[in-house]
Amino acid sequence: MTSTNEIRRSFLDYFAKAGHAATPSAPLVPYNDPTLMFVNAGMVPFKNIFTGLETPAIPRAASSQKCVRAGGKHNDLDNVGYTARHHTFFEMLGNFSFGDYFKETAIEHAWTLLTREWGLPKDRLTVTVFHDDDEAHGLWRKIAGLPDDRIIRIATSDNFWSMGDTGPCGPCSEIFYDHGDHIFGGPPGSPDEDGDRFVEIWNLVFMQFDQQADGTRRPLPKPSIDTGMGIERIAAVMQGVHDNYDTDTFKALIAASEQLTGVAAQGDHAASHRVIADHLRSTSFLMADGVLPSNEGRGYVLRRIMRRAMRHAHLLGASEPLMHRLVPALVTEMGQAYPELTRGQALIQEVLEREETQFRRTLDKGLKLLDEATGDIATDGELDGEVAFRLYDTFGFPYDLTEDALRARGIGVDKAGFDAAMARQKAAARAAWKGSGDAASDEVWFDIAEREGATEFTGYASTSGEGKVVAIVKDGAEVASAKEGDVAIILTNQTPFYGESGGQTGDAGRIASLKGFAGEVTDTAKPLGRLHAHQVTITAGDVAVGDNVQLEVDNARRDRIRANHSATHLVHAALRNRLGGHVTQKGSMVAEERLRFDFSHPVALTAEDIAAIEAEVNAEIRANEPVSTRLMSPDDAVAAGALALFGEKYGDEVRVLAMGRPGKEGRNYSVELCGGTHVRATGDIGVFRIVSESAVSSGVRRIEALTGEAARSWLVGREEALKSAACVIRATPEEVPARLAALMEERKRLEKELAEAKKALALGGGGAAGGSAASADEEIAGVKFSGQVLEGLDPKELRPLLDEAKKRLGSGIAAVIAVNDGKASIAAAVTDDLTARFSAVDLVRAGVEALGGKGGGGRPDMAQGGGPDGDKASDALAAVKAALAG
Ligand code: ALA
Repeated sequence: MTSTNEIRRSFLDYFAKAGHAATPSAPLVPYNDPTLMFVNAGMVPFKNIFTGLETPAIPRAASSQKCVRAGGKHNDLDNVGYTARHHTFFEMLGNFSFGDYFKETAIEHAWTLLTREWGLPKDRLTVTVFHDDDEAHGLWRKIAGLPDDRIIRIATSDNFWSMGDTGPCGPCSEIFYDHGDHIFGGPPGSPDEDGDRFVEIWNLVFMQFDQQADGTRRPLPKPSIDTGMGIERIAAVMQGVHDNYDTDTFKALIAASEQLTGVAAQGDHAASHRVIADHLRSTSFLMADGVLPSNEGRGYVLRRIMRRAMRHAHLLGASEPLMHRLVPALVTEMGQAYPELTRGQALIQEVLEREETQFRRTLDKGLKLLDEATGDIATDGELDGEVAFRLYDTFGFPYDLTEDALRARGIGVDKAGFDAAMARQKAAARAAWKGSGDAASDEVWFDIAEREGATEFTGYASTSGEGKVVAIVKDGAEVASAKEGDVAIILTNQTPFYGESGGQTGDAGRIASLKGFAGEVTDTAKPLGRLHAHQVTITAGDVAVGDNVQLEVDNARRDRIRANHSATHLVHAALRNRLGGHVTQKGSMVAEERLRFDFSHPVALTAEDIAAIEAEVNAEIRANEPVSTRLMSPDDAVAAGALALFGEKYGDEVRVLAMGRPGKEGRNYSVELCGGTHVRATGDIGVFRIVSESAVSSGVRRIEALTGEAARSWLVGREEALKSAACVIRATPEEVPARLAALMEERKRLEKELAEAKKALALGGGGAAGGSAASADEEIAGVKFSGQVLEGLDPKELRPLLDEAKKRLGSGIAAVIAVNDGKASIAAAVTDDLTARFSAVDLVRAGVEALGGKGGGGRPDMAQGGGPDGDKASDALAAVKAALAG
């Protein structure tokens, strides 16, 4: 028997010998083709080569391509398990010519491989051609020598193949294998063609056109060849079985599930085993290519397939989660041809087990409800759409699972009723939405979200990709197109741009189309938490809804954001280690330039705290451990020790980020729930520096910090400042602290000396040199008077100065005005023998008035006051003299 693995190898070897580049399978998720949900044919990865956008090194290729047909144009999910040949996952063997050989060589190769290399009997083969393709008809006669009745002309779309609603297409020629007259069915085109006797095994597409969205077809630059042969079908032929599920790969998988469940694949149970085997393949391969279960888009298709399989495991009576235990059998069968399966094995098993454990919690109750609701429905009846919706909403039954569950009993589901119930729930959610408070703009987002669903974020895995424009919003309203110079919000079905959320700033970058449109994405927001809204300034051309666009995130900027985001996780852990478990995150801001982290703590951090936290974070950075992301249910995540934001609403699953070295119980340094984008390994953060610590409100502190190049240049800036300071004081940077302390000490001493000198100067009497404006002692109204204005004199010195003056005068009157920073203080003294005639208070008041002040007070022998007009000091002295003169 030729095994499936041998067939794959033999196919690729044959075409490699014939000058084809053997190309590994592309991932199942076509990030570069927004028109497809999953790769559904071998030619998809070569689409841009067929249309002439890219030129291959060799114009011939061959591959064994992983394909999923479960959602979108080619969807086989509903039939899987009940037919001999439907699969959600299959491998397509194909050979391709990019403008090189055409029909003749393609037919020659197919015929040679099938009949000579693989030895299929010629009389079992029948072919079809598109009804007006005389050339292909003639070639089959010439090359294969088939009689006319085995080259059948088909006029329907069966013999015109297209990838999807758009993309490369052309007439085709199909090769059928006759499994023998013991099976019911007729050749293609006959009334009995739907029977299972004649099975299409290979499709040769003569690619000539590129189907446009507007329905027109453009000729491809050169006629090309795309062929596709489902490996499962050819394996059945070569292994002498009729049913794909009887081939080696499926037999091994079904044997594994028989063994684990203890239930033979017979009777009613056969379909369940088939569903499980098929769905095990599609779900495992999807996860190996980065799709994880979610409630939207590709992730939801994955979940639907999983849950469908899990219900069948339940039907087989499996008391424990089953799917994850079958993964080793799959890896044995297919891991060698697809190493990503082996690499992803641990993740695949973990996610399957978690999903099944979670789903089993509601499965029983849901099935009970289903039984009750259908108890009195006869065959051909319908289940109420409301009930189907409740099963979906409360018990996690995807619509097609309910359909599948009722299929065996011949009961359908009221789809219209289900849709109506779903619409009512959405309307209620819209009514309850508080959002931004800007009702008009929320309305736009709701309209888009309901029509288009959530934007699929592809940016964890890649920072570039294609997307289809699904909406354009200008000035708060939806528009059909936008042009050069416009500032518009553009939404696509999928995007690598992170929309601002969870404290992390939105991505910036570029967006462009092959039609000449180009724009700068200045920011990306995330309205309703599920749409990614690119804020675009259009720099060239036009863009319209329906266009395909290239999306390119500014990667250097994203890297800086990643470093800052991962650093917040590390600092959070360091703060808890240093300050205690009461520290919880109160908010954060992760931007390109810096990060901010707010946390609960009653008092300011000391310099030692900051230094220790910084050192701890930098030690984790240097350890350079890889950062891992896992998807879990919120409860499991918290049980695994993840820090969650209290009061935050999490969905069905959460991303759990683990970073830093493993510590106690093998738990990583930091484990947190987070939807943001992160570094691959902590070393990517570079260096971490806290630049400020402050209070936000009572009990909440804030740290601001830098990472990477920003931290480095900040540190360099500090170093430069220190160097110039050192230069000014003529010291080395190391000497600066001691030298500055010495200089400060000296300055204090000098200030003291200066004050004493000034006092001494003033005491030295009128007329003395030294810059103080002093007047000489004089006689006014028959008494001795001493008046002085002193710049820079400390007002505290006024009284001691006047005491000195009184002593000197013996009998007389003195006034001193001290001017500091433009303001003046005045004091006057009268010796006791004169207080009966003169009051110091009156004299001071006269001076204060001239200084623009008010009042002044004291006793008749000593009074003091002041005013704002320091420049009026001489006038004030004159006013005192005038008051004295009467
Ligand atoms: N692309 C062709 C198919 O999928 C070969 O059938």
